Amino acid sequence: MNRADQEAYRRDYAQAKKEGKPFYPYAIYKDHVVAVLVFAGIIGMAIWQRVGVGPPVYSATSTFEPRPEWYFYFLFQLLKIFKNQTALVPVIMATFVIPNVLMVLLLATPFIDRRAERRISKRPFALSVAILAFMGMAWLTYQGETGATPTVGATTIPFTGITPGSAAAAGETVYLTEGCSSCHMVKGVGGQVGPNLTTIGTAGKSATYSGKLPVPVPGATGPTYSGANWFVLHTECPTCAKPGSSMPAFASLSATDLQNLATFLNGLGTTYK
Ligand code: HEC
Repeated sequence: MNRADQEAYRRDYAQAKKEGKPFYPYAIYKDHVVAVLVFAGIIGMAIWQRVGVGPPVYSATSTFEPRPEWYFYFLFQLLKIFKNQTALVPVIMATFVIPNVLMVLLLATPFIDRRAERRISKRPFALSVAILAFMGMAWLTYQGETGATPTVGATTIPFTGITPGSAAAAGETVYLTEGCSSCHMVKGVGGQVGPNLTTIGTAGKSATYSGKLPVPVPGATGPTYSGANWFVLHTECPTCAKPGSSMPAFASLSATDLQNLATFLNGLGTTYK
């Protein structure tokens, strides 16, 4: 901008300031009217389309694919770039550090680049940064859309000591298909919502419970439940075995599944490693 342009701008601005309407209350009033109209439109469409409530959350599912709406795919994909470390690092990096560093850079841009030139063609650096940022987001969005499903429920855990066809092998299958590994880790595989179960068989669990079991399992008759029987009781009714437990109950498993699962869990860390 040359000096004459600056003068002209200052004149126009002073003129507008003298004759124009003040921000408060005119602009504020208009903003409120538009905001109310937008909200009324959204509420109206929701009522008109009778938007329903989805099915209730089933926290123990092993088939759920955690995926955000498409416009969050770029953030979602960032999470996957920082995988294979401890659970918190990817979350902190992808949801906090990187977005905030970029935001701060964006806010700092007017202070870094103090030239008066505003024409895009005269600002190749800013233009390339903007293009790169959009290309990066587009690429991450594409990757998030087409990338492989993240595996929450593990499909295999390498064990020694489990013979194919045995009760423990059947129990391991129950463990994997029921989604236990979405919350529990065994030998480095699985989630971290619940405690690590790699050596849970050595914990010497025992409880006294005099109520009835939701699913009667032969051999598991109270009031004292220890060894494999504690695992039967705990799986069917976590709070019966551990008052105050926050684990979901698996009372819809069959007696055989419960027994096999208990055999498997009771040997973790001793027979099955
Ligand atoms: C939604 C997450 C979740 C799922 C799915 C889940 N658990 Fe848990 N589990 C927990 C939590 C949380 C605890 C700790 C509860 C407490 O003590 O308050 C726990 C505790 C346990 C314990 C006791 C550990 C201890 O040290 O006391 C065992 C054993 C266990 N779970 C086995 C299983 C098995 C087997 C399955 C699959 C049938 C399963 N869990 C599925 C969340 C889960």
